[in-house]
Amino acid sequence: MDKVRERFFYLRMKSRGYEDKVIQDEIEVSDEDYARIVQEYDSEVAETIKKNEEVEGIGKKFMELTSYLYASVSDQMKGIPKPEVFKARQGEVIKLPNPQTIRVEHNDFRAILEDRKSIREYSEIPISKDELSYLLWLTQGVKELKETEKNSVTFRTVPSAGARHPFETYLYINRVEGVKPGFYFYNAGKHNLVLLDSEPETLENLWLACNRQNMVKGAAVNFIWSAIPNRTVWRYSARSWRYLYLDAGHVCQNLYLAGESINCGVCGIGAFIDEFINEYLGFDGENEFVIYLASLGKKVNAKKL
Ligand SMILES: Cc1cc2nc3c(=O)[nH]c(=O)nc-3n(C[C@H](O)[C@H](O)[C@H](O)COP(=O)(O)O)c2cc1C
Repeated sequence: MDKVRERFFYLRMKSRGYEDKVIQDEIEVSDEDYARIVQEYDSEVAETIKKNEEVEGIGKKFMELTSYLYASVSDQMKGIPKPEVFKARQGEVIKLPNPQTIRVEHNDFRAILEDRKSIREYSEIPISKDELSYLLWLTQGVKELKETEKNSVTFRTVPSAGARHPFETYLYINRVEGVKPGFYFYNAGKHNLVLLDSEPETLENLWLACNRQNMVKGAAVNFIWSAIPNRTVWRYSARSWRYLYLDAGHVCQNLYLAGESINCGVCGIGAFIDEFINEYLGFDGENEFVIYLASLGKKVNAKKL
């Protein structure tokens, strides 16, 4: 992680004209290490400045080139074998309670929509495993898996273009009753959790990766959604890149609403440093990458169930 961090801050700050002393303070390294960093990354500075200029027209270009006018023949049309519907991660498995059994306090649909707002401060009260199970179910829960030789799709509690569901859910658990803090993977197909990393500094790293936004540290749980673009690209080629982001919005909106129904506050997080989170969670940044996050915790006035 240190390598990713030093490269990111050096290139970002150097290409924007910061003084070396300021950059060194940000990276928190000795004079000797800073000299090594300058040598190692200086050749990339010009390229970074060029990209800073290129980015100006990227939105327009993205919209233009993802028009159906240019959509190429998809892998599915070419007969290329179907992608996997789920990803597997190895580790200690933590069972989750049946999401249907939880008592939901707040069932007034209209009030849930009207009351929802982004909440960035949370109570110290932990959430229960039942509640976590309910939140995971309502954001990525699999209601049906349909498999044929040529195609496999899942139907879930959220919509997704072509039922491709290109996401995986990772969690940083901080305060969930009966679950030790750490990074977890949600195995949607089996509705259970897999422990990935329980090192205490990982929350500090996640906070740094989210531009030091404090709700990450105060959250009972941080949701981290990754995208596996090929699940959608296989079917819709270039157009898929629009769908990934549309789909992700649905997932987080369900978290906002499900959270509201159990007295939890939620805040979507789009301001994060892709490179850091991809590194923490072992994504290569191409075949799988972080797409969106959200922090969640009991509202400050919440009572324990
Ligand atoms: C895509 C997206 C990214 C967001 N990223 C952040 C973020 O990084 N930090 C933050 O404090 N709020 C973030 N928010 C929350 C918005 O700031 C919030 O929705 C907005 O201020 C409107 O307030 P409301 O949600 O209470 O209606 C994000 C929301 C969305 C939809």
